[in-house]
Amino acid sequence: MERGLFSSKLGVILASAGSAVGLGNIWRFPTEVGNNGGAAFILIYLVCILLIGSPIMLSEFAIGRHTHANTATAYQMLAPGKWWRVQGGMGVLVAFIIYCYYIVIAGWTLFYAFASLAGMLDDPATDFSLFFDQFVTNPWLSILFTLLFMAIVHYIITRGVQKGIERYSKVMMPLLLIIIIILVACSFSLPGSKEGLNYLLNPDFSKVGSETVLSAIGQAFFSLSLAMGCLCTYASYFGDDTNLPRTTISVCVIDTIVALLAGFIIFPAVFSVPGLEPEAGPGLVFKSLPYVFNQAFHGMPWLGFVFSFLFYILLFLAALTSAMSLHEPVTAYLHETRHIDRKRAALIVSLTCTILGIVCCLSNGVLSDVRIFGLTIIDAFDALPAKILMPVGGIIISLFSGWYLDRKLLENEITNNGKLKFRFFCIYVFLLRWIIPVAIGLVFINQLITL
Ligand code: PHE
Repeated sequence: MERGLFSSKLGVILASAGSAVGLGNIWRFPTEVGNNGGAAFILIYLVCILLIGSPIMLSEFAIGRHTHANTATAYQMLAPGKWWRVQGGMGVLVAFIIYCYYIVIAGWTLFYAFASLAGMLDDPATDFSLFFDQFVTNPWLSILFTLLFMAIVHYIITRGVQKGIERYSKVMMPLLLIIIIILVACSFSLPGSKEGLNYLLNPDFSKVGSETVLSAIGQAFFSLSLAMGCLCTYASYFGDDTNLPRTTISVCVIDTIVALLAGFIIFPAVFSVPGLEPEAGPGLVFKSLPYVFNQAFHGMPWLGFVFSFLFYILLFLAALTSAMSLHEPVTAYLHETRHIDRKRAALIVSLTCTILGIVCCLSNGVLSDVRIFGLTIIDAFDALPAKILMPVGGIIISLFSGWYLDRKLLENEITNNGKLKFRFFCIYVFLLRWIIPVAIGLVFINQLITL
């Protein structure tokens, strides 16, 4: 079967970074930092990226590129008849579950970009908290924007790997970085920037506990798109000359820088408005920030308008490139393993996710009374992968590549059959064998006990 292939190194890096950089960086990271002791959290997060996230990413790249197959088939090929292969199927399942609710939140970003362009966020007298609540509880509007977002992703995925994923990532990622730089500059020019930076950068170790480490690992997994078959599937489209360690480092660095810059955009801006406390969760970007756009730019309301529009477009672009990478593993699985024509496979994924996405939308309104273990449906769609499937997947991938996979095979794959040097191979294998499974395992058990 003809398989897609990324055509250039830049395409490889931008598509993979596009998967990693998403709502997790711009909205979730600043909130986690704010809740977990500022710079103390950032330090722990950086350690998690270095010691846990990057080795797992490298393993996913190696598994995907070695097999040139979708995640489910990749594990099947490497461990025929062994239980390890459940990880392949689980990766596809996790991508599918996350995709269903991710498109809902991505739809919100699209709506806010429209609302900002249409001047709906321009009146300082508006109660933006109410505005947001009315939007998400209005079934028609939120469903409409979820569908719109969904249609855009569907279009890109049906164009294929090179003409779809690669081409659009190459346009959207640079655009996203330019918007970030403009917004950081705007934010730093605001009067509250010092206070905002203090909030973000002051380490408060009194807030650090096992919960913090759990949050940091969870954030690293989500932000780097790990254990969901996404990067493994993308890597199956890498050429044999792609430098896997270098690609891993580039993606981790880009992802971390964008997360930090998002904090530099949001907190100085929020602290520029007297009396406004940074809210947690969706409240931060959808409720607090519209006040900021209206009030922070005294005498220059047009700048507030530009800031607001660019900010929601930024969120939208980030969500779009990540959503593409969530759609692709499921489509590739149906196409290659179930032998369904690629366009039809993409349609099946889009339609089923749309139906579940609509249920997620409604769970903020008419279906808000339906609870799964006390959670609304959309929160349950978030919690199941984040709290159970991702940590378990992380442990399986590290044990699989550290213990089960042939060491020579792994080394050959990572060094392109000896053409590249990878000085850290022993440390990498040690981390996979011991440190990562133990660290995630401890945190996971601790979470189950405190549940
Ligand atoms: N990494 C993306 C983000 O930060 C989310 C994502 C998770 C994308 C899993 C793909 C797979 O928002």
